[in-house]
Amino acid sequence: MPDESPSYELAWPPAHAMIESLRGVGYSVETAVADLVDNSIAASARTIRLDFHFDGPDSWMTLLDDGRGMGPEELRSAMTVGGRSPLETRSSGDLGRFGMGLKTASFSQCRCLTVATLPESGALSVRRWDLDYIARPDVNEWRLLTGPSAGSEARLAGLASSVSGTLVLWERLDRITAGLTHDRRSQDAFFAMVARVEQHLAMVFHRYLEGPGARLRIHVGGAARLRPWDPFLSAHPATEPTPVERIPAPGGAIQLQGFVLPHRDQLDDETWRRAAGRDGWVSQQGFYVYRNDRLLVAGGWLGLGEPRVWTREEPFKLARLAVSFSNSGDAAWEVDIRKSVARPPRAVRPRLTALADSVRTVARQVFAHRGAYGKRAPVSDLVPAWLSATGRRGVTYRVNRDHPVMSRVRENLGHHHESLEDLLRIVESTVPVQRIWLDAVEQGEVQSGAEPLDPDQIDAMERTAKALIDHLTSRVGLEPTLVRARLLATEPFQNHPEVIDRLLPPSTETP
Ligand SMILES: Nc1ncnc2c1ncn2[C@@H]1O[C@H](COP(=O)(O)OP(=O)(O)OP(=O)(O)O)[C@@H](O)[C@H]1O
Ligand SMILES: [Mg+2]
Repeated sequence: MPDESPSYELAWPPAHAMIESLRGVGYSVETAVADLVDNSIAASARTIRLDFHFDGPDSWMTLLDDGRGMGPEELRSAMTVGGRSPLETRSSGDLGRFGMGLKTASFSQCRCLTVATLPESGALSVRRWDLDYIARPDVNEWRLLTGPSAGSEARLAGLASSVSGTLVLWERLDRITAGLTHDRRSQDAFFAMVARVEQHLAMVFHRYLEGPGARLRIHVGGAARLRPWDPFLSAHPATEPTPVERIPAPGGAIQLQGFVLPHRDQLDDETWRRAAGRDGWVSQQGFYVYRNDRLLVAGGWLGLGEPRVWTREEPFKLARLAVSFSNSGDAAWEVDIRKSVARPPRAVRPRLTALADSVRTVARQVFAHRGAYGKRAPVSDLVPAWLSATGRRGVTYRVNRDHPVMSRVRENLGHHHESLEDLLRIVESTVPVQRIWLDAVEQGEVQSGAEPLDPDQIDAMERTAKALIDHLTSRVGLEPTLVRARLLATEPFQNHPEVIDRLLPPSTETP
């Protein structure tokens, strides 16, 4: 029981030092702007306009929304650092939690933050934090200014034609414009930053931006509405989703769904490049964690994995999973101030691990079979040229002795077949696994039999296929229909149906 009347002294944080510390929370421009967008969404905005004006070191940015706006008291509280407690219960659509975002995100990028806001059938209010003013030794207290900077009135004009809404103005963008002048290179650097912001928003808010009845439109620099970036290519016919699961969890049920994205062969170059995401296919594998449909974590394995913690690796790059919780799960998921960290509660980790494990397994098969999986012959029916086995000394690779070409060669060799066996053993014991692996990681993907072949290779394959067809029809006595089906499910012929068509046209299939 605390003492009823303890003795005390007041220890307010000095404004200047406190604000400078808050600037170091660790936002990037992208994550800072996303925090402003959170607030607009929480205020029921349907349209958000972002404008970045390049003017060298005097560049500035505005965000205008058509949300419900604020009255003067509300605005003062909104501008107060920690104006709302994280313990306060929020409405279900609220993307906020700490009462910090507007201030910390803005201070991380600019030294002058102005907010103008207009509630429906109310009056316009303007408040401003000016870090340089507060830093003056004669000030150094939390003085919230009650109007825009001199000469900046016109920058608030966007609100003039609104029924209701809020405008956030960032001036003196010291972090963004550090080192920039008015030259061409500076301008390019500035607009490259704008492009990164667009890409980030297209990802973080993709669930809000999707579909004809999208809940939200974002326009950057007067351009057409931002196109959402769907990490799962969920509309693509070759994407393999698992069923949506609802799992009871502390702080409310979570939703879980896995996706194996299509092999590169099944995507055009543009789709493949775009689906890679900002950080590329390998980095963007793993879990996508959503809070109220807003993306917090884009990829990674959340410290899960058995027997060892999974890391992001090339063979699993087609595996992506969506996990969603609502804002009632914040404490259980340990959401941080920047909304960029979330940790799954202990109770749901086993299920996340189990589902991720099976999604990873299929993703690796799709990756290794170069798109043959699901589209052409299903993996289980495919006769591979190589087999792999996991043993005590790791993974070993063997030439498939049951491959039809192998059977034929063995038969032809008769009692000499043992020398073939010797040769295969040497080949198998010297597979340059490490080298292939390194090449795969360095080049993104290794070439294999499914790449376009040069004419010599096609000739060689055609000769082999022809010999095999003769063998299977005349020596083994199979029907041409069956021979054709066999070849279409045998490596590497299944990747070159045109060769099979030439040798054994499909018409021979009809009785
Ligand atoms: N664009 C806006 N429209 C209407 N109200 C807003 C807007 N931006 C901020 N507010 C009000 O200001 C408050 C403080 O915003 P701030 O981003 O600092 O904290 P928060 O959103 O409550 O929590 P968090 O720190 O998690 O972002 C909000 O709770 C909201 O009431
Ligand atoms: Mg906020």
